[in-house]
Amino acid sequence: MLPATAGPSAYWYLTRSTGAVAMVLLTLTVAVGVLDVQRYATARWPRFVIDGLHRNVALLTMVFLVLHIVTSVLDSFAPIALLDAFVPFVGSYRPFWLGLGAVSFDLLVAVTITSLVRRRVGHRTWRAVHWLSYASWPVALLHGFGTGSDVKGTWLMVLSLLCLAVVVLAVIARAAAGWRDGLRLRGAALAATAAFALFLAVWLPSGPLGSEWARRSGTPTTLLPASKGAKASTKGAR
Ligand code: HEM
Repeated sequence: MLPATAGPSAYWYLTRSTGAVAMVLLTLTVAVGVLDVQRYATARWPRFVIDGLHRNVALLTMVFLVLHIVTSVLDSFAPIALLDAFVPFVGSYRPFWLGLGAVSFDLLVAVTITSLVRRRVGHRTWRAVHWLSYASWPVALLHGFGTGSDVKGTWLMVLSLLCLAVVVLAVIARAAAGWRDGLRLRGAALAATAAFALFLAVWLPSGPLGSEWARRSGTPTTLLPASKGAKASTKGAR
């Protein structure tokens, strides 16, 4: 067990850092996955290297996610149960935004399991489930913005926007390759990506970057420092 201190717990720092690392790794997994599916290869980066990189970065993402979840449950500041990591929107701490994290995690668990038993489930099922990784990424990004304490800090914003740029480029590259096949699907993917970026540009200033986000996002009132009857918390609001 990590020692309990008077200030913010070590678990909280670990939740924040592992969350940020998991987001970067998930972004890399999607980007390398796009290269992989497009059969990208050079003399220096043969296919099997890209294939292995994709698999290993994906597994590392899951390792960091498990650490992220476990530390958030162990941190006693916010009431987060292990169940909240799997069952979305049932918790009492920022239920919607934490729930998005659970949705993203559930999708990634499905993608991981079907990849590990790919031969058994067959290529079509594996591929259909694998497409869910595209959905898990924006859901995870929204979770980070809605739940994270560091959104107003420049470093997390810059990191998140860099992740966004990488995924936008990956989707454009994926849509551009074989553009004539599945024109509708590729057009829809590009439109959804543009709509998501636009949504963030409109929502962020009034949402997590706006005033009183801690209250508006569903932080229990007992954890808000200004609330009447608030418990004396040595950690303050997040
Ligand atoms: C794909 C899944 C997930 C990703 C990529 C992810 C990533 C992130 C990121 C980037 C942050 C912001 C960290 C910061 O502000 O420094 C965050 C915050 C947080 N996440 Fe996740 N997360 C995921 C799933 C989950 C799940 C399932 C839980 C459930 C227990 C969870 C619990 C939390 C908590 C409690 C915070 C707030 C930490 C704070 O106070 O700053 N996350 N997450």
